[in-house]
Amino acid sequence: MSLSQITRKFVLICFFVLLWYIISSFYFEQEELLSDKNEETLTGVHLTSNTNKTIITDDDNNKNQLEELNKKYCGKPICKFLFVYLIGEQETKANLHFRSFSQLAEKLNRIMVLPNVGSSRIGTCNEFPFDFYYNITLLQKEFPNVLFKSENDFIFWLKERDQIKKMMNNNNNKNIPPLSILHSSIKRSRNTEKTFYDDAETNFDVYNCISKFKPLMNLEDPTNSRVKYTKMIIRTTDMRSEIARVKLSELLTKVLTIDEEILLVNGKVVDPLFPQTMPVIPYSDYILNEAQKIKDKLSSSYMGIHWRLESSTPKLLPECVQGLIKTLNKIKEEEGIKNIYLATDYPLLSSRSQSSTFKKITNYHHDAIRTLNETFKINTWVSLGGLEQLRENKKYNKELNGSGIQGILDKLVCVNSNYFISGPKGCSRIASSFTKTIADERSNRIENKDSDLLNVIDRWEIP
Ligand SMILES: *[C@@H]1O[C@H](CO)[C@@H](O)[C@H](O)[C@H]1NC(C)=O
Ligand SMILES: *[C@@H]1O[C@H](CO)[C@@H](O)[C@H](O)[C@H]1NC(C)=O
Ligand SMILES: *[C@@H]1O[C@H](CO)[C@@H](O)[C@H](O)[C@H]1NC(C)=O
Ligand SMILES: *[C@@H]1O[C@H](CO)[C@@H](O)[C@H](O)[C@H]1NC(C)=O
Repeated sequence: MSLSQITRKFVLICFFVLLWYIISSFYFEQEELLSDKNEETLTGVHLTSNTNKTIITDDDNNKNQLEELNKKYCGKPICKFLFVYLIGEQETKANLHFRSFSQLAEKLNRIMVLPNVGSSRIGTCNEFPFDFYYNITLLQKEFPNVLFKSENDFIFWLKERDQIKKMMNNNNNKNIPPLSILHSSIKRSRNTEKTFYDDAETNFDVYNCISKFKPLMNLEDPTNSRVKYTKMIIRTTDMRSEIARVKLSELLTKVLTIDEEILLVNGKVVDPLFPQTMPVIPYSDYILNEAQKIKDKLSSSYMGIHWRLESSTPKLLPECVQGLIKTLNKIKEEEGIKNIYLATDYPLLSSRSQSSTFKKITNYHHDAIRTLNETFKINTWVSLGGLEQLRENKKYNKELNGSGIQGILDKLVCVNSNYFISGPKGCSRIASSFTKTIADERSNRIENKDSDLLNVIDRWEIP
């Protein structure tokens, strides 16, 4: 053997050793990043000494890497997500719609991505992680067959997949395909004669929040993702009754049983999608504890008032407030309850109202609240020092000044109140899902013999 032959052999051996080192360190890194469960599956893939194979061009092995990632992350060789990145309406209704889509995730056997929350909304445009409002542990109990992942977990998967793709595809060997995505708009429409599912234009994401996942998920870049666009337009009556929803949910499940890895949904649905409505997603301990603190501060007992001024007739408000004062005096006398807690969309922290849809605040509104406040000692989440930790942090300014987490707190305080009243037509919004949720929960508690609650809901009258 000549010297040059020996050198060549040596170089070749070095090359393979180096290759083994690079590839195995990639696996080790994966192992560190991924959760510690199922370690055996990864160790099984560790490369041993049979390096006479050129790993980088081995199709099966490349596919395996993606499969191993998916098995770790989703428990299956292919990860399938349902990401409803926009859920219409404010918290009470959004809470309901989120449950509908979780039911859909279960039917489609997909991971449900937990969108961000904030400003009393659920959707990826918001600033805070899902558990800022909700208790994920209890959500998981409610949906034991659905795997839930946060936006950050989703980003983690995108990143890992992207890395595998980059590493495996760098020598023109494109065996890890782009992300496969179906982007669908699911919408209730009053103007449609029948419910239908069809191809669609690409313009549903008016807030363009999906772009925050760039470059890992880039809907405009065909080397990154292959996207199909569809829409489901739902006729109002097809959601209204339980029977109608049997058919609707079957249709949804049928048309959305697809191969794409990611099902992106822009959802504006108004009513439930499935015949069964699941219980409210439980709120985080932080908010529950704040509600308990307020209850403790109003030591003996309190009346909860929900007064949503947004849909009132401003000119009626002077009479409305007189009616409320009369009712409060009556309850005070008859039930011996002194403390009053007011939950309202009237601005408490700044000049911005506590509801994102309530913008026209007039002197009628200001006068009504002033009259009430001059007649009784009115407690609110602000006057009782609720959410103090958040109020000290600038990060939450926008959330607390507008509508947001305090709406959930108000709801819980009203649920706990000994006596609960809300406004009549003209003085406040009657068909409020917020008020209805409070009444429903109180009704449950009374059925379960909670003797602290003296009524479900009363409405005061205009004198
Ligand atoms: C690789 O090694 C195996 C034995 O470990 C041998 O059977 C096979 O022929 C080798 N392949 C190549 C391409 O050298
Ligand atoms: C969720 O609820 C459980 C059970 O009540 C509780 O132990 C846990 O601390 C809660 N988690 C959060 C983050 O609120
Ligand atoms: C009621 O009056 C007090 C004292 O003037 C004030 O601090 C508080 O902000 C008022 N409450 C409301 C709800 O306007
Ligand atoms: C609310 O907003 C006003 C100005 O818009 C600001 O001065 C104030 O500090 C904010 N308060 C909180 C608690 O965020």
